[in-house]
Order: sequence, then structure tokens, then C-alpha cells
Amino acid sequence: MIVILYEYVMGKGRDSMNTNKMLSEKFYEVLKHEGIVTIITWGKGEPHIVNEWNSYLVITEDERILIPAGLMHKTEENININNKIKMALGSKNVVGFDNYQGTGFVVEGTARFFDSGFEYEMMKDKFSFLTRVLEITVTSAKQML
Ligand SMILES: Cc1cc2nc3c(=O)[nH]c(=O)nc-3n(C[C@H](O)[C@H](O)[C@H](O)COP(=O)(O)O)c2cc1C
Repeated sequence: MIVILYEYVMGKGRDSMNTNKMLSEKFYEVLKHEGIVTIITWGKGEPHIVNEWNSYLVITEDERILIPAGLMHKTEENININNKIKMALGSKNVVGFDNYQGTGFVVEGTARFFDSGFEYEMMKDKFSFLTRVLEITVTSAKQML
């Protein structure tokens, strides 16, 4: 009885840890293949689109997405008005649902820019061109294909 209870509690613990994970293994696989990321922000006006490379996304332990920003001034203006962000990325080289050759994700979250601190220095070492880091806190990451 105690063993069953223990397994139930531990099992639930494991399940809830998994549910907390927003980014799947498939998502990480996509990042290993080059492709174009599209990031959409909207302040008060029309949606604004910028691009990034898959290989430039850095994922932190707690699944925030860090992106090197060299320009992205309009994006930053928008974020300062409305911090919501949508992002799409994919790769033809990663198998999707039902063995389809290709997959992609739509990510939603909130964003901020920062230009100092440990994570800024870590990103600057990787991408010398950056002037700020765009950080996305993911609220959903849906596989689309
Ligand atoms: C494939 C691709 C990759 C890009 N990578 C970056 C990048 O790493 N950092 C960046 O600031 N802009 C990058 N850009 C430029 C942005 O898409 C954007 O046009 C520019 O940053 C200006 O942003 P803004 O309109 O928000 O001011 C890239 C563009 C393309 C097409």
C-alpha cells in the first residue's frame, strides 16, 4: 500500500514536471538545423515582423529563449508598449507528425530586452554583433506539422 502510494505521488511529481516543460525534444531538434525564425510584435499599430536564424536561439535551463539583437529597434519599441510576442520557426530536415518530412512550431510568450548581466555577457561572447538580448518567456509552443 505504501509502495503504491509512493509510486502514485512520485509519478504525479514526474508528470507535473513534464507538463511544465513547454519545449519538446522536437523543438530542440529543429534548432539543430538552420532555418529562418519569424518574430512578430505589435505595439498599438500593425503587426511588425523580424527574422532570426534557428541557430541563434539560445535556450536557458528554465526554457527562456534568448536572441541576439543587433538592430530590432522597432521590435523593442513595440515590446515596450505591449510585451506579447509570437514566433514561428521550422525545418524541412526534421520529421513532423505522421512521418511528414518537415516540422515547425508557433511559439507565444512575453518578451523583454536587456543589455547587461551574466546572460548578456554569455550571449555577447557567442554573438559579438549584439547590442541587446531579446528574451522570450514561453507561454505556449505548438507543433504545427
Ligand atoms: C535571416 C535573417 C536573420 C537575421 N538575424 C538578425 C539577428 O540575429 N539580430 C538582429 O538584430 N537582426 C537580425 N535580422 C534583421 C531583422 O530581421 C530586422 O530586420 C532588424 O533587426 C530590424 O528590426 P526592427 O524592424 O525591429 O527595427 C535578421 C534578418 C534575417 C532576414
